[in-house]
Amino acid sequence: MKSILITGCSSGYGLATARHFVAHGWRVVATMRSPKPDLFPASPNLQLLPLDVTDANSIHAAFDAAGELDVVVNNAGIGVVGAFEAMPAATVDEVFNTNTFGTMAVCQAAIPRLRARGAGVLVNVTSSVTLARMPLAAVYSASKAAVDAFTASLAFELEPFGIRAKLVLPGYGPTTAFAANGGERMQGLVPPAYAAFAEKVFAQFANVSVTTRETDVAEAVWRAVHDTTGQLRFPAGADAVALAQGR
Ligand SMILES: NC(=O)c1ccc[n+]([C@@H]2O[C@H](COP(=O)([O-])OP(=O)(O)OC[C@H]3O[C@@H](n4cnc5c(N)ncnc54)[C@H](OP(=O)(O)O)[C@@H]3O)[C@@H](O)[C@H]2O)c1
Repeated sequence: MKSILITGCSSGYGLATARHFVAHGWRVVATMRSPKPDLFPASPNLQLLPLDVTDANSIHAAFDAAGELDVVVNNAGIGVVGAFEAMPAATVDEVFNTNTFGTMAVCQAAIPRLRARGAGVLVNVTSSVTLARMPLAAVYSASKAAVDAFTASLAFELEPFGIRAKLVLPGYGPTTAFAANGGERMQGLVPPAYAAFAEKVFAQFANVSVTTRETDVAEAVWRAVHDTTGQLRFPAGADAVALAQGR
């Protein structure tokens, strides 16, 4: 039975991806900062483990408890929208520590384990902000663009060991907990000088008709894991696919 460890499974894309792989007969190690067993139907193929991607001890404890793995998915992430001028350095650190350095730390824990087995797949979840510019998202975009470049380069050095590194690029998913989880972080990030501009941007966000569903991301991760063509980037959701096709 194939096995997969996924970060950030308490909601949204990570939860849907964990459910998708359980439903397809995989052994799933669903990790989250505070495990919530009620999120999943009981299954002998499902293991819930605590994992905070900003805490090295927590990452290593989770990998030790997870056993042998075929696939590791870096899905955990946080967002922030606002004017860069107003963004506290602590918020920049928080976003990079989670989205960028957290992803790197999980990769560093996963790679020797996959290399010892001579096979495996690493999937890093970024965003369609790496396909098209998004206003008021400079820090978030930078944190994801770094993971894009990191993964694209990493793929070369892992290939000789039978490890494939992949990127999944979700579009805008209004039904996940992403906006709510970022609400507090985003307070006070639109100073008066930016108010008129921000109002237009937020009105555009509220009016988008094509978005990404949780299942789109789960299916894109599935395609990335099973890809044998060498494709690196997998846009997920109709909006992300359209952006990728327009490039
Ligand atoms: N929704 C969107 O519009 C969108 C668009 C493009 C890309 N993405 C990306 O897709 C991924 C999933 O986002 P989502 O939309 O599903 O949002 P979500 O519902 O907020 O899920 C994010 C997950 O990341 C977890 N997380 C946050 N900080 C963590 C940490 N330090 N260690 C471990 N887990 C942590 C959260 O867990 P807690 O419960 O512990 O907070 C949650 O399970 C993220 O990487 C995000 O950047 C989202």
